Amino acid sequence: MSTNTSDNLRKVTTRRLIEMKLRGEKISMLTAYDYTSARILDEAGIDCILVGDSASNVMAGNVTTLPITLDQMIYHGKSVVKGVNRALVIVDMPFGSYQGNWKEALASAIRIMKESHAEAVKIEGGSEVRESIERILSAGIPVMGHLGLTPQSINKFGTYNVRAKSEEEAEKLIADARMLEEIGCFGIVIEKVPASLAARVARELTIPIIGIGAGGGCDGQVLVMHDMLGLNRGFSPRFLRRYADLHGVITEAVGHYIEDVKHGDFPSEAEQY
Ligand code: KIV
Repeated sequence: MSTNTSDNLRKVTTRRLIEMKLRGEKISMLTAYDYTSARILDEAGIDCILVGDSASNVMAGNVTTLPITLDQMIYHGKSVVKGVNRALVIVDMPFGSYQGNWKEALASAIRIMKESHAEAVKIEGGSEVRESIERILSAGIPVMGHLGLTPQSINKFGTYNVRAKSEEEAEKLIADARMLEEIGCFGIVIEKVPASLAARVARELTIPIIGIGAGGGCDGQVLVMHDMLGLNRGFSPRFLRRYADLHGVITEAVGHYIEDVKHGDFPSEAEQY
């Protein structure tokens, strides 16, 4: 856990993230979808909490992020915000809530901010969604971009393999990142691309680049909390470091509980009225 210096207790804002990049201080980000987890992450000192649309996989058991709805993202966002004092809370705009046109995108972003009380939204894509991002920014809503592997486009990509290995795709990613900075995004998540490419973008831009599977040259890192805590045993990409085996811890605890109930050892005298 980080030590509680006054700087560590200060509210994280989008502006502060840019200052952190300027100082060379790395930014920590994890996902959360509920009040209890968000509270633990915030108290542990995480800088940013992403209410990711990975909730579609992790919370609802869907194969992709596509089915999660705007109402469901707002529900998760609202729950997370209630558990957070310090971290910056960013909510993913789900598939279908912004791709149609800028009016739909702006209405969706306004609903997220008004109903969840989060502080920013994240949107997948580059030049294709430029106008929508510009309109959202001009309404005073901070936007984080998301380039590289964009899971909402899985049906176009066909795989979750590393993106931007070709020169053409790498050039588009660089151009999109520059454009996102130019129009006013406060940061960009870059997912699953060669480390050298992400490092180049991080060097060339003044806004923070938060990597996932994008190497150590980024200004910060994000992981799905359930993956890094070892709750999900079936997902082992190379970029994932497991910091705990909560699947094992929970399985063992539940096994003990079942045994105690079956043998009549729970509740004890002291645990009843
Ligand atoms: O939805 C999510 O969890 C994300 C992260 C993987 C960056 O977008």
